[in-house]
Amino acid sequence: MNFFKRGTGICLMLTVCGMLSRAQVIIPVITEHNAMLLQADKDGDLKTIYFGRKLADQAEYNKVAGVYHSSGDYTGVLNSAYTPSGSRNLAEPAISVTHADGNRSLDLKYVSHQVDKLSANVSQLRILLRDPVYAFEVTLYYKLYYKEDVVEQWSVIAHHEKGKVVLDKYASANLYLKADSYWLTQYHGDWAREMQPEETRLTHGIKTLDSKLGTRANLFEPSMFMVALNRPAGEDEGSVLYGSLEWSGNFKIDLEVDPLDNLRVIAGINNFASPYVLTPGEDFTTPEFLYTFSDKGKGDASRKLHTWARNYKIPNGKGSRYTLLNNWEATYFDFNESKLGGLIRDTRKLGVDLFLLDDGWFGNKYPRNGDHAGLGDWQENKEKLPNGLVSLVKEAQTEGVKFGIWVEPEMVNPKSDLYAKHPGWVIKQPKRPEYYFRNQLVLDLANPAVQNFVYGIIDSLFIKNPGLAYIKWDCNAVIYNAHSNYLDKKQSQFYVDYVKGLYKVLERIRSKYPTVPMMLCSGGGGRVDYGAMKYFTEYWPSDNTDPLERIFIQWEYSYFFPAIASANHVTDWGKQPLKFRVDVAMMGRLGFDIVIGKLNPSDLLFCQNSVKTYNSLKPIVWQGDQYRLADPGKSSIASVMYVDSTKASAVVFNYLVNYRYGAESKPILLKGLDPQKQYRVTETNLYPGTKSALDVQTVYSGDFLMTVGFDPIVNANRRSVVLELKELPGK
Ligand code: DGJ
Repeated sequence: MNFFKRGTGICLMLTVCGMLSRAQVIIPVITEHNAMLLQADKDGDLKTIYFGRKLADQAEYNKVAGVYHSSGDYTGVLNSAYTPSGSRNLAEPAISVTHADGNRSLDLKYVSHQVDKLSANVSQLRILLRDPVYAFEVTLYYKLYYKEDVVEQWSVIAHHEKGKVVLDKYASANLYLKADSYWLTQYHGDWAREMQPEETRLTHGIKTLDSKLGTRANLFEPSMFMVALNRPAGEDEGSVLYGSLEWSGNFKIDLEVDPLDNLRVIAGINNFASPYVLTPGEDFTTPEFLYTFSDKGKGDASRKLHTWARNYKIPNGKGSRYTLLNNWEATYFDFNESKLGGLIRDTRKLGVDLFLLDDGWFGNKYPRNGDHAGLGDWQENKEKLPNGLVSLVKEAQTEGVKFGIWVEPEMVNPKSDLYAKHPGWVIKQPKRPEYYFRNQLVLDLANPAVQNFVYGIIDSLFIKNPGLAYIKWDCNAVIYNAHSNYLDKKQSQFYVDYVKGLYKVLERIRSKYPTVPMMLCSGGGGRVDYGAMKYFTEYWPSDNTDPLERIFIQWEYSYFFPAIASANHVTDWGKQPLKFRVDVAMMGRLGFDIVIGKLNPSDLLFCQNSVKTYNSLKPIVWQGDQYRLADPGKSSIASVMYVDSTKASAVVFNYLVNYRYGAESKPILLKGLDPQKQYRVTETNLYPGTKSALDVQTVYSGDFLMTVGFDPIVNANRRSVVLELKELPGK
């Protein structure tokens, strides 16, 4: 007998086996286009029996389990929805524990589940699993964003044993995918080399993506990845899973092709040096593992993530951002009040919204005149700023621009008052020599006193300067010699408690200052993840602002993050013309970090015009759908398009990325337009005195532009070309 309870998300199936009737529960985890089917079998083991495109007829989910006949899973739990260890399992576990009595076995059986509707688009599924022998339970959470096809998955672990239980491993999620082959795209990097992609076919065994850096955790590798099924995915074709952990610390993602040729994905906090002790009645909530799936290629998957991020994750994701002038590369540490006054006037002259004062404004006994001293002493340097920040904020107000400031509140230079006063707040091994990253150490955010201090830095900046409009939050060091004076005998909690401490501080800041724009920076993109992006309006992709490099770096970030979150500054890096640099920076939140006073009149005019042009285009770049048209890794041209939601206007950025003889563009197929609409294509952001090489008289249908394409005429003389498309009314 079969019956299916529609609307509850629960499918109950009674199967007959021999003389026994046994209940099985099928739990469909469903979004608009995708489905993951979980099944609690007759023994109560919760398994993943399907992952992929949704079936048209949901009643057919009952038939799925019967289709797979493969033998060879000796354990019967290779496809466990959350694999326990120490009982039958032989593969990589999602969870492993040491019980209060020292026993290390765990089994988890399905108990119940519940679906809560959180809004018209969002629902949350909870599945309770319990060990039949120990008073130990795990609740699996799935937050489903229906239209965006995005799932956030995490677990809550609790027990009522007679003493402490040690969590030796505690993953957020455990997925199970079936395909003929699996193609992993992962990223590696370093300072100024963020988001270097590598694609490989996964072989049997485990491929691990991980970080053990503590802070600036993504310096060498972020937790973002893609797995394409059966063949590498293209922008518009192929089945692909995107995954990422919402956690700004150590992570571990194991991708295990098992003996049945299926892919087990286990993602969570890295358990390296981090067994976590849980007292009875206490619970441990893992961070969310974020994923989406598309059978229409990488472009579709990334647009789903962008929409989700703007709607649900990034503060003010549907709102606006300030364009700005930053002084970092214009002055480095060498400035004073009058120089900054000049830059504030330049901000107005340029036409951007805000002046951002970077590193070097603080420290007195140990002035911050270089990167070797002063971090931790967040008082204005009296020599550089005798009248304090207050007077600069006022000056900005007089000029009609906003004022923002750089901080690096988690860090301390040994040469600082803070270090002398609070040596116990610093992460270091008590009996070993200190070892520095950029001449600095990390403060112990596991310690509530340090959390208060860090919160106080930001809070007092706002209290003293109510006009302050923007924060750039930097984090330049990794954690060496991981040891918390505060945690005493609980050192194994350190890496986890650090990140929890950081989030507590950010939570407090956001509850008092919910709307202030904040940039997430970590010596470049050392900490770009959705755990942090819950608090930050934008991130700094890289200190590498050479526009040619940025085309590649921004391209890769754009698979996971929407353009509105990408802080792009025009600097003097690279050999490209100014127009090229500005065009690249326009593909996100535009800023400048150049000496405006040194620009010749045409360059200045160009920059001023660009800001105006950008202001008219930014709603499309920030809120539109992004299409990657020509891949700089595969051709001489990079082309990226943004289309507004009504398909009435679009902007296409095109660049020459290869300077070999004869490299030039051909017609590029545009995407995302309405085939029925008629569009005029014009070139915008032209350098003063130059004329477009394009024919702007002809009008094209969306169908034509998406079928035959349009040549932006990019070549050695026109290395960057920005196209604007506008629907012709009434045509
Ligand atoms: C590293 C950041 O990435 C830069 O933009 C700049 O803010 C420096 N730190 C300042 O020390």
